[in-house]
Amino acid sequence: MRYAGKVAIVTGGGRGIGFAIARRVGGEGASVVLADIAIANAQDAATRLKAEGIEALGIACDVADETAMHAVAEEACAHFGGIDLLVANAGLHLSGYAKTPCELPGEEWQRLMDVNVIGIVNGARACRAAMRARGGGAILTISSMAGYKGENAYGISKLAVRGLTVALAKELAVDRIRVCGIAPGLVDSEEAMARFPVDRREKYVNELQLVKRLGRMDDIAAAAAFLGSDEASFITGETILISGGAFCRI
Ligand SMILES: NC(=O)c1ccc[n+]([C@@H]2O[C@H](COP(=O)([O-])OP(=O)(O)OC[C@H]3O[C@@H](n4cnc5c(N)ncnc54)[C@H](O)[C@@H]3O)[C@@H](O)[C@H]2O)c1
Repeated sequence: MRYAGKVAIVTGGGRGIGFAIARRVGGEGASVVLADIAIANAQDAATRLKAEGIEALGIACDVADETAMHAVAEEACAHFGGIDLLVANAGLHLSGYAKTPCELPGEEWQRLMDVNVIGIVNGARACRAAMRARGGGAILTISSMAGYKGENAYGISKLAVRGLTVALAKELAVDRIRVCGIAPGLVDSEEAMARFPVDRREKYVNELQLVKRLGRMDDIAAAAAFLGSDEASFITGETILISGGAFCRI
């Protein structure tokens, strides 16, 4: 119960990896706020968590809208008494943004960066004071293995997330807020499985990964629950790559 008495906001928590993280930290005692642009998903997800005995609240929010993100933080404080963890997971996907830099139209570039990058800044700005009031906190960013490759616009937005993770860690250390990142490889969320047919998945796993199975949302949730907890109190500014060895850094 590493999160007993703690409050977590998970953006994009209505489904997929965000929901898995919310369920994991909720199962370890956190009250969770699921902030998602798809309000029906956020509310359904909150209902599912409550059925498991987890305190949960689903709220509509576009992370690209700073005012909306502040409203989420205020709601978390009003409802649960503060904020200890922000999981900045909401993101636009590779599927819509696999184009190369010169191919992607300007307005789509803008939206990609507004959601995937500025959305995290908005979350940090919105939660900072409430975390400081609790004596500190943790922010987790979700980037991607694609952010190590320099192949497309999505990857560039996720590369920026890694840089932002370091910059926020430096900026927020004064408030005892740690900032860490997770860069997943291919993980079995609904969205990723829809874009990867079974034969391509098998080829990907067999040819690219060292660990011969698909990544699971719970693999990411387990790492997030560790990085956001006091067990990781000496880790900040770092992004962990979780790809079954599909990409190895040296
Ligand atoms: N699944 C993978 O293989 C994989 C790999 C690398 C990185 N990621 C990253 O993990 C995160 C979660 O991905 P997923 O696979 O669970 O996808 P998903 O589509 O299942 O979940 C994303 C959630 O974010 C919400 N969302 C989208 N835009 C939003 C916005 N502007 N404001 C608030 N909520 C918004 C969606 O409604 C959805 O509930 C994303 O940042 C994604 O880029 C996923």
